[in-house]
Amino acid sequence: MALRPDPADADLAVATRSGAAPSRWDRLLRPLHRWVWRDRERRGRKLLRFAETEADGGRDLARAAERTADPLLRRLLLRHALDEERHARLFRARGRSLLEECASGRPASGAGVGVREANWLAPGERGLDDLRVDSLSDAALFAFLHFSEKAAAGRFALYRELLAHDPATQAVFTDILADEEFHMAYTGKQLTRLLPARRGLALWRARAGRLWKAYLRLAVWLAGLLGTLILTLQYYVLLPPFALLARRAARREGALGWTSRTHGVRPLESQY
Ligand SMILES: [Fe+2]
Ligand SMILES: [Fe+2]
Repeated sequence: MALRPDPADADLAVATRSGAAPSRWDRLLRPLHRWVWRDRERRGRKLLRFAETEADGGRDLARAAERTADPLLRRLLLRHALDEERHARLFRARGRSLLEECASGRPASGAGVGVREANWLAPGERGLDDLRVDSLSDAALFAFLHFSEKAAAGRFALYRELLAHDPATQAVFTDILADEEFHMAYTGKQLTRLLPARRGLALWRARAGRLWKAYLRLAVWLAGLLGTLILTLQYYVLLPPFALLARRAARREGALGWTSRTHGVRPLESQY
């Protein structure tokens, strides 16, 4: 069941959809995004990854609905959770059929086996995988959700544009995008209701939190890269001189007349 405003429900009906647009950064990276979505196998794998994120997000939203004391927010969050669960099913079904097409040997559109998903460049509904419902107040949760849904809707709008060569996948994004735009609108509306005077501050905090998490992700990646580089350098730069010295020492000991005791026959009466 998709989260749609019910005309009989005044609270839901006020949250109208608003059009989503890709960010300036994503527009700049458009050629890279086009490359990411060109390959059929990569598309299939990415959609399966998106399905995981949506399903996880749906579970977190259901948990947030249990925690809130506000009956309207609880109802909205439950219906939002159902939407994310539906998105997971749509992405999973399309991802599997793309991978089955690849496996059946029909000509693939790109690089084929072994392609990387490029998730750092083209993520799904990324905000949902950072959601920590237990540590957030209702207002902070809705600021976070609004910010994340807006980013996801903009990204999905771009992906839909780039998928003209795959109408079935494009139709999945068109369907899901309608819900994401609505999520963006209703979370914004509820944030204004919860914090009429401090909405801007709450959004600024949500943005700062996302930036901090992005920085931590980058730092972890960089630390891993530096660790690998340093270990490789140690292996190729520090170990060879020691190996050389050891070999030289072994040769020198041989020249001085040292012989291994195991080579001689040990007399039975000797204690050595
Ligand atoms: Fe979604
Ligand atoms: Fe969403």
